[in-house]
Amino acid sequence: MIALACDHAALEFKEEIKLFLKARGVEYKDFGTDSAESCHYPIYAVRAAKAVSNGECDRGIVICGTGIGMSIAANKVKGIRCSLCNDPYSAQMTRAHNDSNVLALGARVIGIELAKKIVAVWLDTPFEGGRHQTRIDMISDIENDQSLE
Ligand code: RB5
Repeated sequence: MIALACDHAALEFKEEIKLFLKARGVEYKDFGTDSAESCHYPIYAVRAAKAVSNGECDRGIVICGTGIGMSIAANKVKGIRCSLCNDPYSAQMTRAHNDSNVLALGARVIGIELAKKIVAVWLDTPFEGGRHQTRIDMISDIENDQSLE
């Protein structure tokens, strides 16, 4: 189950991503916004991010104009590793190396066809574990105010 969220800048973009997920047989839950009226992206980013952190959803995709605000907000939620990706290589590597659990996209930065490629590779790439798990554990340590050195 994928948690989806967007702000007003990415409403149509999110609808296209929904169709893409549906065509791939991927289930999703939409955490808003559902209106083109100007809104505050952190509200929606945190709704989706919390659904991932509490296990209601497996992963999330959050979309705003640049993807930046959504990614900053989502990354404030404990356990979230949100990656803003504007290219498929980053999407692949952030799954393989960072075990990214939320993907951020910029609807005013990239086109929808590129976004679909990014989503596909991000969904399909497994985490490699090993030395990368050690580093993920260090990120958790930061969240828990543990020293890394
Ligand atoms: C909305 O105008 C815009 O600020 C928002 O979509 C996003 O790009 C923020 O990071």
